Parts: sequence; structure tokens; C-alpha cells
Amino acid sequence: MALLPILRFPDARLRKTARPVAEIDAATRQLAADMGETMYEASGIGLAATQVDVQRRLVVIDISEERNHLRIFVNPQLRSAEGAQTGEEGCLTVPGIYDKVERAERVTVDYLDLDGKPQSLVAEGLLAVCLQHEIDHLDGKVFVDHLSQLKQSRIKAKLAKQARVTA
Ligand code: NI
Repeated sequence: MALLPILRFPDARLRKTARPVAEIDAATRQLAADMGETMYEASGIGLAATQVDVQRRLVVIDISEERNHLRIFVNPQLRSAEGAQTGEEGCLTVPGIYDKVERAERVTVDYLDLDGKPQSLVAEGLLAVCLQHEIDHLDGKVFVDHLSQLKQSRIKAKLAKQARVTA
């Protein structure tokens, strides 16, 4: 297993649209394992392949308290979304920034598991938010895109300052 470098907003590579995983092979399983390890190491609850500069539709999520329930979604697709909820979101590619985003309350997601078997999941609350956030990444979107232009400019300025301090 290996830790993968996580891209930082506003890196242009975060804007790429990921391609579907054509075949679930050893490399796919290795990527999923590495993404899981990277997410746990960074104390995140979700990670999309786009964030580690791999343009494939693969997402890992663990919203459990115990950090022992890794969920892996290959080619996840939002089949339906209903209701609304607003919660504070953060993102491993936008470190230290948290803000309120409105999302659907309940979603149905179709995906493949690591055996290539089609699965379907109905999710609510935090898991629903996480799925929407991660699928956004696969489409080249970051949660700050949902915020006002003013907030986005402030976030870019703050992150640029952080980068200068830590460089
Ligand atoms: Ni994110």
C-alpha cells in the first residue's frame, strides 16, 4: 500500500472529468486500497480518484466513528436525489476551509463493487452528502464551487497565503 499525494485547490487537474473504470483489475484494487489508506492518514471521510490525480471514476468513503467501514464505489452514478439539507463541508483538497453547502437529503447511487458486481445504495444524511461531494469531484467540481464568488476569492487568497507559509 502507498500514500498518494493529494492535489490542492485550485490545482487545474481538479477540473478534469474522470473516465469510467473499464475493467476492475489488480491495478484498480491497488488504487482503491491506496486511496483508502490516504484518506485515513489524512483523517478524511471521503476521497475521489480525481483528488490524487487519477482520472478514473472511483470513490472511497468511510463515515463510521470507528474508521473501520471502508466503502468503495466504482463508476458511481446518481440515479435519483430528493429533498434538501444544508451542512458544513470540508475537503482534503481545500485544507482548513469549511462552509455550508446545500445538498439533496436522500440519494440513490448505482455503482460497481470491487468484484464488478452492480450495486445500488440509498443514502441519507451525511452519507448522501459525502456521495454527492465525491461524485462532484469526478465531474471536476469542488465544494467551494457551490459558494459565492466573494467566498471563493477569499478561499483562494487564504490558501495561497498558507502555501507561501508552508513552502
Ligand atoms: Ni472533497
